[in-house]
Amino acid sequence: MNEPQQFSLFEEISPLASDVAPNISEGEAVKLSPDDKIAPEDYDKIPSSSSISIPPGTYENLEALGEHCQVCQRCDLGATRTHVVVSRGNPQARLMIIGEGPGQMEDETGLPFVGKAGQLLDKILASVNLDRDRDVYICNIVKCRPPGNRVPTPEESAACLPYLLEQIRLVDPKIILLAGATAVRGLLNEKQGITKLRGKWLEWNGRLCMPILHPAYLLRNASRQPGSPKWLTWQDMQAVRDRLHQLTSQP
Ligand code: URA
Ligand code: URA
Repeated sequence: MNEPQQFSLFEEISPLASDVAPNISEGEAVKLSPDDKIAPEDYDKIPSSSSISIPPGTYENLEALGEHCQVCQRCDLGATRTHVVVSRGNPQARLMIIGEGPGQMEDETGLPFVGKAGQLLDKILASVNLDRDRDVYICNIVKCRPPGNRVPTPEESAACLPYLLEQIRLVDPKIILLAGATAVRGLLNEKQGITKLRGKWLEWNGRLCMPILHPAYLLRNASRQPGSPKWLTWQDMQAVRDRLHQLTSQP
């Protein structure tokens, strides 16, 4: 078993910290030697300006990542959130679902996809025999609610991306479902429309990704006729379920 590689946060952030974040005082910066882990009592001292990188390997586990997210002020959404929304589901799941960002219910509860769109997502999963708690790990491009449910700005998405990349590394899913255009843009930097990309297998850093229509979009399109958004999504989910079974039944 390979231990996850632990990078030195200090080496990565110290030049940046002094160059571009002059408002962060010396006393606040945590200095770590190459072998140090981030001690829990130091999470809130780590400069969280978005100009400071969070290199891959920073977090030893999802708990450490979650604690840092709780105190994050890397973008303007930190000022207006009620709760940071990190994830729900099973961190050991083979399937990861990435949405756009928290809505009102998610902001109130601290859990992703628990409002109307989330309930539909649970039904979509159940329709192909996937359990919302056991079979998936669910998260978003941004972890704080954009006021009025607007689409996150590119700056907000970029500020939050290092956390998402760490979640992907630590969960290590076989397949990533990208729910909606913002998720596709946020992870793949892909500008093609979701209606073109949905249902297509894409490879990203050696992982399989499948863009699907966002459940909130399906809520606005009631039809289940062949060719309708709901019908298309069901086809996509069947393909995902089949591929997942294929991948997980291999030795
Ligand atoms: N829509 C999303 O994209 N994410 C959520 O968590 C809830 C609704
Ligand atoms: N537009 C979006 O942003 N997402 C969808 O899923 C469909 C249309």
